[in-house]
Amino acid sequence: MIHPEHQRRAYLQAMGIDVWLPRGAPEPDEPEIIASDVAATGGLDWEELRQCVADCTRCELAESRIQAVFGVGNQDADWMIIGEAPGAEEDRRGEPFVGRAGKMLDEMLRAIGQSRTSVFIANTLKCRPPNNRDPKPAEASACRDYLERQIALIQPKIILAVGKIAAQNLLGSDDPVGRMRGRPHDLNGIPLVVTYHPAYLLRSPSQKSKSWSDLCLANRLVKESAA
Ligand code: URA
Repeated sequence: MIHPEHQRRAYLQAMGIDVWLPRGAPEPDEPEIIASDVAATGGLDWEELRQCVADCTRCELAESRIQAVFGVGNQDADWMIIGEAPGAEEDRRGEPFVGRAGKMLDEMLRAIGQSRTSVFIANTLKCRPPNNRDPKPAEASACRDYLERQIALIQPKIILAVGKIAAQNLLGSDDPVGRMRGRPHDLNGIPLVVTYHPAYLLRSPSQKSKSWSDLCLANRLVKESAA
């Protein structure tokens, strides 16, 4: 696992910022990592990125996962769906959204004429948090550039952030989903729509109509970008 202090220094080094330490400052007792470990995904192609994610030890989730879950679908997709993190079934199978929530997501995709093979599905975290707890902010930030590289490689026409964790991390917001959904956002020039997580829709089916209007909004934004 990477010590947060090493990670901070590596980011600073990668940005070309000299890191000055007071004489005698205690060293974190984790092994040193090199800047390129955390800041060099920028030039990676798909296979290199996939390998990097598979081998990742940036946070403690590397110790408890069965495998990292990279993402699945069309690498030239118009639609990119971003969820939270793998659950137990996803960790076992190495594919995102394969449990009950996955079936719900499949239905949502079918409703807009898409499928698991036409879109690209990824998560905010590539590894399963134990007992399905929420991702820690440090885990999300350690994983962030993998997701950013995936977005840069795909260049989707629309990003659909499903659920609070994806939406808050992507938009750097603390707002609840109810306040973020229903309107277009912008992620570095890519339109982004927030909607409820499929697992939430399973628990609260009365919210499905709102999710449907979010999907329609996203569909409209894709069409507008093609016009
Ligand atoms: N929930 C998510 O957010 N992602 C998955 O891959 C599975 C369930």
